[in-house]
Amino acid sequence: THMNAPQNATAQPVLPDAQTVTQVTHWTNKLFSFRVTRPASLRFRSGEFVMIGLMGDPDPKTGRQKPILRAYSIASPAWDDELEFYSIKVQDGPLTSRLQHIEPGDQIILRPKPVGTLVHDALLPGKRLWFFATGTGIAPFASLLREPETWENYDEVILTHTCRQVAELEYGRQLIDALREDELIGELIGDKLKYYPTTTREESPVMGRITDKLRDGSALRDLGVDTIGPETDRAMVCGSLDFNLEIKEILEGFGLEEGANSEPKHYVVEKAFVGEGA
Ligand code: A2P
Repeated sequence: THMNAPQNATAQPVLPDAQTVTQVTHWTNKLFSFRVTRPASLRFRSGEFVMIGLMGDPDPKTGRQKPILRAYSIASPAWDDELEFYSIKVQDGPLTSRLQHIEPGDQIILRPKPVGTLVHDALLPGKRLWFFATGTGIAPFASLLREPETWENYDEVILTHTCRQVAELEYGRQLIDALREDELIGELIGDKLKYYPTTTREESPVMGRITDKLRDGSALRDLGVDTIGPETDRAMVCGSLDFNLEIKEILEGFGLEEGANSEPKHYVVEKAFVGEGA
């Protein structure tokens, strides 16, 4: 039998695993962040990612619609009652060409199955924690920086963020400012946090790739760090494939070994959501 949709079904989710957009911020013509409602049943560890997306156009032959889903790090901490995401906009990208136009009240699809390696469980205890990010790779660290466990576990936390342009640093810069001013987290952070933003294609106080600045010693000098070693240092890495490989090599050179959920060690790596159809 054919079922008619009830009249005035405004609160009815029209998508499977639908969540409602509550806020959208456009940072540049290529970057935006947004917040959505959190499914009551969703538990995750700060640093994990989920699949999110939109329903695709109907297949011309069958009329059936399939969801277009991509992996996105959750940028908000595990205690937050909403979920935040940070995304690029790719003009001909199957998902972000459309996702960039979402507005508060719209719905997105969110599969409530969080996974990932950028979690505290995958690292052995240490004194100093490094977050190495390029571009949208800062997203999982936006979550972890707001996670009390980060500040309880370590004496020092260093966030490096390398982008092409100064405007691409703004999401991270505002996050750091807000953290330091936050009544609860700010107290936990004290003077433990060092923020090291660098740009590669526009003038800024610190220029160059973080990889080059680790190899030539300038990053450690700027940060007042003598050396990196497996007794004291832990690291989480999130950027493009090339970036991740280079940082891995550098960290291995300092004697650090890659960990996993099943076998915690000194550093962990995850690919940022960097592109579509590339
Ligand atoms: P660069 O401008 O020298 O390529 P993208 O916008 O291409 O995703 O890159 C984001 C930032 O990451 C840029 O500043 C870029 O520097 C830098 N980057 C890209 N690849 C590497 C790498 N292999 N090692 C270090 N930094 C990288």
